[in-house]
Amino acid sequence: MALPNDDPRKTILIAVLLCLVCSVLVSTAAVALKSQQTANKKNDIRQNILAVTGLYEPGMDVNAAFEQFEAKLVDLSAGEFAETDLDPLSFDQYKAAGTAEYGVDIENDIAGIGNRAQYATVYLLRDPETQAVQQVVLPVHGYGLWSTMYGFLSLQPDLNTIAGLRFYQHAETPGLGGEIDNPRWRAKWEGKQIYDENGNVALRVVRGFVDENAQNAEYKVDGLSGATLTSQGVSNMMVYWLGDNGFGPFLKNLRTELESN
Ligand SMILES: Cc1cc2nc3c(=O)[nH]c(=O)nc-3n(C[C@H](O)[C@H](O)[C@H](O)COP(=O)(O)O)c2cc1C
Repeated sequence: MALPNDDPRKTILIAVLLCLVCSVLVSTAAVALKSQQTANKKNDIRQNILAVTGLYEPGMDVNAAFEQFEAKLVDLSAGEFAETDLDPLSFDQYKAAGTAEYGVDIENDIAGIGNRAQYATVYLLRDPETQAVQQVVLPVHGYGLWSTMYGFLSLQPDLNTIAGLRFYQHAETPGLGGEIDNPRWRAKWEGKQIYDENGNVALRVVRGFVDENAQNAEYKVDGLSGATLTSQGVSNMMVYWLGDNGFGPFLKNLRTELESN
């Protein structure tokens, strides 16, 4: 280049060229790695579903183990398995929530999510021999203090007892709201009951410690200290997703079906 090195035009030209080259490199990498990212995300979801049901072991073949699950789409308003050709494994309920076709506005939005999709994918874990349902995994999400928390809740076949809870994506503060990932806190959910004798969601995260001998302790989970707002967010998401506008009608119908088998 004929211009001297200290000419401002040359500096700008070099900077522009450098930016162009870098943006091409970054875009190429993003496009080339897209399928790998999608595969990793899918793998992570499967790993979390295995973990929430207690089946995950480090180093295991996640895809092979995931074969034990039957993924099904649920029509939330109808409370039934959906009659649709959509593939339950590739249907993205979080993306679909924002579309005109599948999005449903939420009134009385206690979970702080604005809208939800008409359908949600649930995962049935069946006994390989008898085919009896052993656990039912539900996707749940709701707003905490800083972020939307995405997770899975697993239920025992009575569809009233919690088998496990696990979050796979959130941005709550590590050590405070981030303690939703703490195995000791997650363990407190196991065995808790959801519905009271009138069929209402009685499950709540409460402030402080739950005295296991106190009345109604079976419906209560310890709040996280210093993270009342995240705890409240988790509590609200359970009330929403297990209630009449979430999986409530579906769980009621499925319970009747499982009891009659
Ligand atoms: C930097 C910072 C990060 C915080 N992160 C969280 C959080 O992730 N979740 C949460 O509930 N509260 C968080 N808090 C605290 C909340 O502002 C609020 O004080 C707390 O939820 C009240 O809970 P407590 O009554 O148990 O103290 C954070 C506070 C600060 C200063």
